[in-house]
Amino acid sequence: MSSEIYRSASRAARSLLFYASKHKHHVSSKGRTAAAAAAVSYKGTVPALASFTDSTNTFNRWIAGALALPAAAYMLQDQEAYALQMERTFIAIKPDGVQRGLISDIIERFERKGFKLVAIKLVVPSKTFAQKHYYDLKDRPFFNGLCNFLSSGPVLAMVWEGEGVITYGRKLIGATDPQKSEPGTIRGDLAIVVGRNIIHGSDGPETAKNEINLWFKPEELTNYTSNQEKWTYGVN
Ligand code: RTP
Ligand code: MG
Repeated sequence: MSSEIYRSASRAARSLLFYASKHKHHVSSKGRTAAAAAAVSYKGTVPALASFTDSTNTFNRWIAGALALPAAAYMLQDQEAYALQMERTFIAIKPDGVQRGLISDIIERFERKGFKLVAIKLVVPSKTFAQKHYYDLKDRPFFNGLCNFLSSGPVLAMVWEGEGVITYGRKLIGATDPQKSEPGTIRGDLAIVVGRNIIHGSDGPETAKNEINLWFKPEELTNYTSNQEKWTYGVN
């Protein structure tokens, strides 16, 4: 009986994830984790309750199952509240990366990981715009040179979406100083000095939100379900 209930909880959790991805486009990592937890704790609840009962007592087993069902239903309902939009980050290939013909190499790394491109455009930012983008660094000695450089040519501005994309995007990019970036990272493989480190990535959720709003109008951000999503994400 318990394995049957577990199977049905797993099915319910999966249906929920499928429903959320169909109807709300995105399920947050929290939602996914919670849906998995619903199935897992369902698995845990039944045997725990069953252990209070005589294994031959089918009535008590039924009670155990009946108690577990509403709890699981509650947990699964709760998942819908977590079915929020997936995380997004702002990634920009700076003028040096564009001029060196590294656009396709960089985009490929994000695509191959499984992240989803939701906005992209090639722009030459004004110096004032560059100053806004790097406002946090306004007191650093390299601020003026950095803003001159960012506004010196085309920048490929992008928004990428996926579970953990802000933090993992930074991992794909590598350390600020390419001398310290690990091989295998974008800066580690493709750049040599900090002043020409070819790519920018938001460093946290708040920065990501602000940078996406600075570089893109809301209507430039697309919402779509990628065909590969059901193979990129899943709970077992
Ligand atoms: P980014 O914002 O461009 O993604 O880079 P980051 O977070 O890894 O590093 P951050 O501290 O935000 O610095 C922004 C950019 O400023 C340039 N920089 N130059 N000592 C220097 O000359 C120096 N330090 C930083 C780099 O282009 C860095 O990406
Ligand atoms: Mg930064």
